[in-house]
Amino acid sequence: MFKEMQIEVLTGSITVQKAEALIVNLFEGVTTPAGATGAVDAALGGQISRVVAGGDFKGKVDETAVLYPDGKIPAARVIVAGLGKREKFTYDIVRKVAATAAKKARDLGATVIHTVVHGAGVGGLDIEKAAQAVTEGTILGLYRFRELKTEKDDRSDVHCLVFVEQDVAKVQAIERGAKAGQVVAESACFARDLANLPANVLTPERMAEIASNMAGITGLTAKVLDETEIAQLGMNAYMSVARGSHHPPRFIVLEHNAGTADLPCVALVGKAVTFDSGGISLKPGEGMEAMKGDMAGGAAVLGAMRAIALLGLPLRVIGLVPATENMPGGGASKPGDVVKALMGLTIEIISTDAEGRLCLADALTYAREWKPEAIFDIATLTGACSVALGSQAAGAMGDQRLLDVLVEAGDATGERVWPLPLFEEYDEQIKSDVADVKNSGGRPAGALTAGRFLRKFVPGGIPWAHIDMAGMSREDKGRPYIPKGATGYGVRLFVELLRNWEK
Ligand code: BES
Ligand code: MN
Ligand code: ZN
Repeated sequence: MFKEMQIEVLTGSITVQKAEALIVNLFEGVTTPAGATGAVDAALGGQISRVVAGGDFKGKVDETAVLYPDGKIPAARVIVAGLGKREKFTYDIVRKVAATAAKKARDLGATVIHTVVHGAGVGGLDIEKAAQAVTEGTILGLYRFRELKTEKDDRSDVHCLVFVEQDVAKVQAIERGAKAGQVVAESACFARDLANLPANVLTPERMAEIASNMAGITGLTAKVLDETEIAQLGMNAYMSVARGSHHPPRFIVLEHNAGTADLPCVALVGKAVTFDSGGISLKPGEGMEAMKGDMAGGAAVLGAMRAIALLGLPLRVIGLVPATENMPGGGASKPGDVVKALMGLTIEIISTDAEGRLCLADALTYAREWKPEAIFDIATLTGACSVALGSQAAGAMGDQRLLDVLVEAGDATGERVWPLPLFEEYDEQIKSDVADVKNSGGRPAGALTAGRFLRKFVPGGIPWAHIDMAGMSREDKGRPYIPKGATGYGVRLFVELLRNWEK
């Protein structure tokens, strides 16, 4: 599981740091470094300028140059990280640059990293936000899931990140940004750990245990409903999925600022199918192992709740995570079965593989207990959404005002969201001959008929948005700050959105 990073902010000259790895930066096309990089260049007798002049370092975003000071400064090595083109510079680039440099430092055996705040100088970014982005990029980029490997990693463990800042007046802002960045990035790593764990380890019961432990540490209120309580409440849609499995379901209910009536209240609902075999509508075998990650929405909600608690956001936030397996056991639903959801609507189960919406339907309805001013749900819901948007954005459907704030938070965090329509006419596709609605609308507009389905189970009058993160939950190749495997998508998105809620 992820280890917490130690973070420090030092004031003083960059050139006097006794560092294992000292990270500075340079924009593409700059031949004479300024600021901290300029100071290091001067102390090194122009080594950085010469590497640039020699054409060996262009300053591209994925590029680093390693220099050996040879006693001219106390640092063992200097890593110059490329910032890319100045006109394309953003906070997301800062995250990428920090990740690339940190991984380089780790490859070279560093256990402590000294760095400047990328973008705070000539980059012209807000110092606090830039410090947050550097912290996030570093922590997210260095993440690895080695839990189940017996052989130890021969790469070092970076356990400490040190910011070096000349200007004393900037220290507090850097500290604030670093703190927020750490909370949010480690909460994303918490979500990654959950989604990376195999389904034989992360059963619904285990997920509830981990959530309760986390709640105890962070000060959240936690309640876990077992199968008897879930059934008694009348969550028959969710229970119909759970009955196919040997492992019992667990409905995880977390609350931040529980019982405060004066704070705005927002509910987050996350799909947590700890393994989706498809049930009786069994999925093809190839690639089925990826369905251990079908709880990534639930993991995103748990991770977001962790961060919200640690940051002490002035809101009341409810996290609802209906955890279950989707298996073809003896109690499993059969295509054609009809169940009555908590909302009172009857659902014809056309495909047992459209299980996520059955769990979410009851969880969305259950949110009415708190009368929240908005409900967000997040789910690895449809292959169709992944086909539409690939792994560059999640699809979002629902109330326009919520879509607007989601898109904004997505742009700010790099966890992009793109609006999809919920035209009324899509309801035609989910009309059932025998029940009020059916759980599959067929292939056309698969993400949108799923959205229309969910909409029927949202408590009346409460603004709602649905995020389909099917294409975003797993990274297959590895990006600068998203290593292969579970991405932790959604955690930073929700936290950014809720930090700006009142504004
Ligand atoms: N968990 C899947 C969706 C999914 C697919 C997530 C690929 C991540 C990657 C979901 O439960 C599912 O099986 N959806 C079906 C719905 C269909 C039966 C209406 C789908 O998308 O095919
Ligand atoms: Mn499914
Ligand atoms: Zn699923």
